[in-house]
Amino acid sequence: MGNIGYSKKVMEHFINPRNVGEIDDADGYGKVGNPVCGDVMEMFIKVEKDIIIDIKFKTFGCGSAIATSSMVTEMAKGMHIDKAIKISRDAVANELDGLPPQKMHCSNLAADALKEAIKDYKSKKKKEGG
Ligand code: FES
Repeated sequence: MGNIGYSKKVMEHFINPRNVGEIDDADGYGKVGNPVCGDVMEMFIKVEKDIIIDIKFKTFGCGSAIATSSMVTEMAKGMHIDKAIKISRDAVANELDGLPPQKMHCSNLAADALKEAIKDYKSKKKKEGG
């Protein structure tokens, strides 16, 4: 007992998270805080021709935040930025075979940090004039 309803996939991503770390020369960077718990998430993306070719995250969040970030990075890698910016927390939770309702707020972090990173990339690109 004591399991509040994590799926096998959540546990697997939590124990073995993908794409943890930083990208030094990232093309886009996003940082968000979770208003519910105060945890912080950072997301780094490397972009080529508007495709996310590399992505890494760093978080002080809980196990659910780690698992959802891991899943978001896997979903976003190889994706066009216009598609990646639309990844929703529900889509992530679905990919993970669901999250306990009291943990849904944790899954906002990854999707929101990715959105910020993409916005950062777009604004940099505009400044460079291309
Ligand atoms: Fe803070 Fe989950 S409790 S991210």
